[in-house]
Amino acid sequence: MPRRKPTRLLQVSDCPLARDPAAAYRGQNADANLERLTDAARRWAPDLLVLTGDLSEDASVESYCRIRDWAGRFGCPVAWIPGNHDERDAMSPVFDEAGFQSGPVVAVGGWSLALLDSAWPNDPGGELDDARLKALDELEGDRPAGVFVHHQPTPVGAAWIDKVGMRAAERLWARIGKLPSVRFIAFGHVHQRFRQQVEGVECLACPSTAANSLPATARFTAGETTPMARWFELNETGFRSGYLAA
Ligand SMILES: [Fe+2]
Ligand SMILES: [Fe+2]
Repeated sequence: MPRRKPTRLLQVSDCPLARDPAAAYRGQNADANLERLTDAARRWAPDLLVLTGDLSEDASVESYCRIRDWAGRFGCPVAWIPGNHDERDAMSPVFDEAGFQSGPVVAVGGWSLALLDSAWPNDPGGELDDARLKALDELEGDRPAGVFVHHQPTPVGAAWIDKVGMRAAERLWARIGKLPSVRFIAFGHVHQRFRQQVEGVECLACPSTAANSLPATARFTAGETTPMARWFELNETGFRSGYLAA
C-alpha cells in the first residue's frame, strides 16, 4: 500500500484583532502582522487550519469577520476554539456561517483532534469542567489523537502568563493519562515559544501572530516581533511540528 501523504495542519493563535483595524496591540498592528504571515501560510498549504483563541482583542463582530476572511484564503477547512478575550456568542455566528468547525472532535488524516474550550466570561485564566472534558471520550481507541485548547495545561516558566494558565489542570492530566492515543496538547495564550514533554505527551505552544515575549521571563518582554504560527505534519505513526514564521 502506498504511504499516505502526511496531513498538514497550521495552528494560528492570539491574533488579537480589534474593531478598529488601526488599533495598536503591544506596539504592533495586529492586522498587519497577521497579513505578514499570509505568504508563509500559503507555502505551507495546510489541510486544516486550527485557530486557538484570542482571535479578537475586543470580541467585536468586525474583528471576527476579518479573521474569517483571512482564514478563508487558504482553501482548506478551518477549526476553532475561543480564548479568554473572545466571546463565543459573537464569534459563532460568523464562523458557523463560513462553515468553520468547532468539533468538539474533528477527524483529519486518520487522526482525531479534540477542540477543548477552556475560556469563561470575564476570566483571563482557563478551566475545563467535566462537561468540556467529555469530548475526550471520543479519543478512546487506536486512532492517534491531539488536543487543542487555549490555555496552557502546564506552566511555561513565565510568571506573567502562568498566573492565568489553566486552573485544576490535573483534571485534564488525569484523563490524558488514560488515553494513550493522545500524542500532543497544543495551546496558545502564552505568546511565546514553548515545547516540553509532560507525562509522555508533547506540550506545544503556538506563539502569537501579533506580538511575542521572549520565553520564560517574569514579565512580558518584547523580543520576538516576528508573527508566528505552528505547523504540524501528521502521519500514521506520529507527528512533527515546528514554528512557522513570517
Ligand atoms: Fe492572548
Ligand atoms: Fe489568552
